[in-house]
Amino acid sequence: MKNNIALIGFMGSGKTTIGKTLAKALDMKFVDIDEAIVKKENCSISEIFQKKGELYFRDLEREVIEKESKDNNIVISTGGGAIIDNLNIKNLKSSSFVVFLDCDIDTIYNRVKHNKKRPLLDCENMLEKLVEIYEKRVLLYRISADFIVKIDSETNLYDSVDRIKEAYING
Ligand code: S3P
Repeated sequence: MKNNIALIGFMGSGKTTIGKTLAKALDMKFVDIDEAIVKKENCSISEIFQKKGELYFRDLEREVIEKESKDNNIVISTGGGAIIDNLNIKNLKSSSFVVFLDCDIDTIYNRVKHNKKRPLLDCENMLEKLVEIYEKRVLLYRISADFIVKIDSETNLYDSVDRIKEAYING
């Protein structure tokens, strides 16, 4: 049954912030997949990438998404790369109303450029890397979504939350 809401979108698109506010507004539980992975491994995302590699992280991500998708009445904030894996898309789509936070690249860059917590962007030319990954993924976000919310630097958090809430309630 599709009574969860899953937020998908690029790093820095606001999945955690919007997810927490949305969960509160709908009186649902909030689940952050990255946070669940950190808890499970007792290790930060950067450390997992560094010590065990991206593939190990993706296996954990798949496992946690599969487990959380079985829950009900939750808002799930996924990591930006969750949609790379078909099984994740299948699990999210079968359990959740999937919402793509379609944030423009400039806004994303401004939000992530001083943050060192994202191993995939931890390189010399962050913007180039960001654009490269974004272009590979943007279509996947679009086709996986039941609903798309446009976001830029001017977007008000509560407007986005209201729009998602309305779309979810109206099916
Ligand atoms: C990733 C995004 C991160 C985290 C990991 C990989 C990605 O989550 O899961 O660093 O592949 O885009 P956020 O989207 O919450 O930053």
